[in-house]
Amino acid sequence: MHYTHHNNELNIAHVGQTVSLKGWVAKKRNLGGLIFIDLRDRFGITQLVIQPENPNYDEAATFKSEYVIEATGLVVKRESINSQIATGEIEVVVNSLKLLNTAETPPIGISNEDKSLEDTRLKYRYLDLRRPIMQNYLIKRSQITQAVREALLVEGFNEFETPILGKSTPEGARDFLVPSRIYPGEFYALPQSPQIYKQLYMVAGFEKYFQIARCFRDEDLRADRQLEFTQVDIETSFLSEQDIQAMIERVLQHTFKKVLNYDIDFPIPRLSYEKAISLYGSDKPDLRFGLLLNTYTDMFAPFEIPFFSDKSIRGFVIPNGAHLTRKELDQFTLSVKKNHGEALAYLKYINQELSGSILKFITEPKALVDTLGLNNQDLLCLVVGKDYAKASNAAGALRKEVGEYMNLASDTDYKFAWIVDWPLFDENEDGSLTAAHHPFTAPKEQDKALLKTNPKACMAQAYDIVLNGYELGGGSVRIHESHIQQQMFEAIGLPSDVIEQRFGFLVGALKYGTPPHGGLALGLDRLVMLMTGTKNIKDVIAFPKTQSARDLMMEAPSSVADLQLDELKISFKK
Ligand code: AMO
Repeated sequence: MHYTHHNNELNIAHVGQTVSLKGWVAKKRNLGGLIFIDLRDRFGITQLVIQPENPNYDEAATFKSEYVIEATGLVVKRESINSQIATGEIEVVVNSLKLLNTAETPPIGISNEDKSLEDTRLKYRYLDLRRPIMQNYLIKRSQITQAVREALLVEGFNEFETPILGKSTPEGARDFLVPSRIYPGEFYALPQSPQIYKQLYMVAGFEKYFQIARCFRDEDLRADRQLEFTQVDIETSFLSEQDIQAMIERVLQHTFKKVLNYDIDFPIPRLSYEKAISLYGSDKPDLRFGLLLNTYTDMFAPFEIPFFSDKSIRGFVIPNGAHLTRKELDQFTLSVKKNHGEALAYLKYINQELSGSILKFITEPKALVDTLGLNNQDLLCLVVGKDYAKASNAAGALRKEVGEYMNLASDTDYKFAWIVDWPLFDENEDGSLTAAHHPFTAPKEQDKALLKTNPKACMAQAYDIVLNGYELGGGSVRIHESHIQQQMFEAIGLPSDVIEQRFGFLVGALKYGTPPHGGLALGLDRLVMLMTGTKNIKDVIAFPKTQSARDLMMEAPSSVADLQLDELKISFKK
């Protein structure tokens, strides 16, 4: 029989109706001769009552957790209301009951409160996904995906696919390779992103492309990184950096409104890369709280603090932070060291008195308090780093940790920022250059000529969108002129035969009337993670890999049959 309602739907208005429900036995209790069953489906819970005179009573008594059943009965008002659930005013007095399937005792509890180890949850992911909280994450994911798609269609985009078996695209990670059976010794690479293909759609004249695209990167996993992840991948022709950013803002505005009924604050602040490092010590700053960074190197130089000498000192004031204990500050020191800072020094200002680890070096505390502009109960954190970049990085990481520790940021507050004006290149220790984004990113118009003469000074037409301390997306205006692309490859030290072999088709394609074009990719998993308020990207991916890159349920990666290897002409070095 078809069900008439889901398990969240019935209320006092349905009293007197006969209904039919299906679902899982979430809980069963025997009370005063009556059997009570909490019936669960993905929408909610309804309480069933089975009376002793019911012909199915004995069978119901054998039901266990996670049995799948179908029940028909009469909706009645409950004696004691349960305000915790949507159907808490009623219960269904069952007249017919059917067992659809039995279940063994599940190895994890099917409830939000379940505290099973993550590895166990991932091994039995299909049961883990039955938990309401996980259902909520994935259903939100579906809603977010649809809202993004809707907004892009309104913007006039076409949804196109690109190959999974292709050639390596340089996004900075290691490729996953797929051996070719037909051409032994040759490999396809899984796409790190559809970057080159989407540009070729522009060369072909489609003007507006998007794809909800799976990307593969063999890199170390973190709380916001997976080996395979999904991008909302976008490319357009003829638009400027600002046009593309405005379009992305409209897509995000629609998505947040539709799914969370949340109004994003406009205008979204734009920070140059340099300013982001200077104020926040991070290229993905969390703007939900202050704690702005300062440079203290010169201010503390006269005190000749031994471990400050020849170092860069960056830090910030924590208002009302003076109550933090030695133990808490030791934790902060660990964070500084973990992020390649050398030390953390601090000064507390309480009732006109300065105290702290470096007080003994301060010759005129009163004057220093005035220069620093400290208020009562302030704590000044000073991060010591080998140079400006290292001190900034460690101070930025500490700022983030302090913000979280002191609950300065709420999960339901969304603070976006555009990080713009990036350098085109990163410099390696040996002085060689690598593309700071990918090597298809265009230099700023006025810097084009520098590409040959002084590439290090080139700024990029690149932009990242940042949300609550995470890099949500990145993009750029691309190089659309063949000779500039050639110069770019040369600047990163690719010899001409390698350029020809790896990117010949692209340099070639750019010769045939390529329009100016650019785009961006949003990390869909990160977007869902932030919009659902979880801090673990695995929560919003149905079948993720563990931190050590395994699928514990399917047991992948796994060895394969010798026959398969023979076909590929692969043998392993012992
Ligand atoms: P980028 O490498 O910045 O740009 O990636 C875009 C966005 O994808 C997300 N992301 C990830 N999410 C989860 N796990 C990962 N391992 C992972 N790596 C990246 C991030 C990131 O901001 N082709 C360019 C885009 C472009 O220029 O249009 C690209 O891939 O949210």
